[in-house]
Amino acid sequence: MSQSKCIKISDDDKGYPLEMFCIPKHYENHLSHVMIPKGLIDDRTEKLAKDIKEKLSDEPLVCLCVLKGGYKFFADLVDHLKSMNNVQNDPIPLKVDFIRLRSYVDDKSTGDVEVIGGDALHHLEGKNVLIVEDIVDTGKTMQYLLRKLQVHNPKSINVVSLLVKRTPLSVGYKPDFAGFEIPNHFVIGYALDYNEYFRDLQHVCVINEAGKLKYAS
Ligand code: IMP
Repeated sequence: MSQSKCIKISDDDKGYPLEMFCIPKHYENHLSHVMIPKGLIDDRTEKLAKDIKEKLSDEPLVCLCVLKGGYKFFADLVDHLKSMNNVQNDPIPLKVDFIRLRSYVDDKSTGDVEVIGGDALHHLEGKNVLIVEDIVDTGKTMQYLLRKLQVHNPKSINVVSLLVKRTPLSVGYKPDFAGFEIPNHFVIGYALDYNEYFRDLQHVCVINEAGKLKYAS
C-alpha cells in the first residue's frame, strides 16, 4: 500500500509547553506537553483534503468516520472537502457514514477489535469509500475494518488517518493518506481519548503518568 508523504515528528521532539496554550484546568496536571496544536492540525487537514480530491477525482465518495476518536478530524476534513466543492468546477459528491469500533483499554490495545455501532456496511457495495481514522497504531484495527468492508464489495477503499504512530508493534499497515507520523507516546485530545477522557481537549497532547493513573479503568 503506498502512503503519501506526511509530517514526521521525531522521537526527541519536546512539543510545546502547556503554558503556551489554553488547556482546560481539569487536565493541566495530567499532560506532558502539546504535541500538535489545533491550528497546525487544521492547516494539515486542508492539504490532506486537497490531496484526496486530486487522487480520487470527481467520483461520488462515501466518507466513513471511525468513531469516536475520528469525529473531529472527520468533521474538519469533510468541511475542507465541502469548501473545495463550493469553489471548484469538478466537485466530488459526498456522503457520510459512521462506524464505531473498540480495541483499547487504558493505553493498551486489547488486540480484539469489535464493531460496537454504526451504519450497516452493505450500503457501501459499489461505492468509493474513504475511511477517516484518528490514529493508526499497531494497524490491527484498520486491517480488521478493511477485511470487514471488503466483504461488501466497495468499488474502492482509501484510508486517511490524521496520525500514524511509530511503534515496534506495528503490523506494517500504512494508510493511503496520513497527517503526521508521531513517536510512540499515548496521545489524547482533538477527540482522541484515554478511557473516554480528554476528548474535550483542543490540541493533540501527550498524557503523563499522573493522567494515566487518575483515569485508569
Ligand atoms: P491499532 O489497532 O493499534 O492501530 O489502534 C487503533 C485505535 O486505537 C485507534 O483508532 C484509537 O482508537 C486507539 N489508539 C491507538 N493509539 C492511541 C493513542 O495514542 N491515543 C488514543 N487512542 C489510541
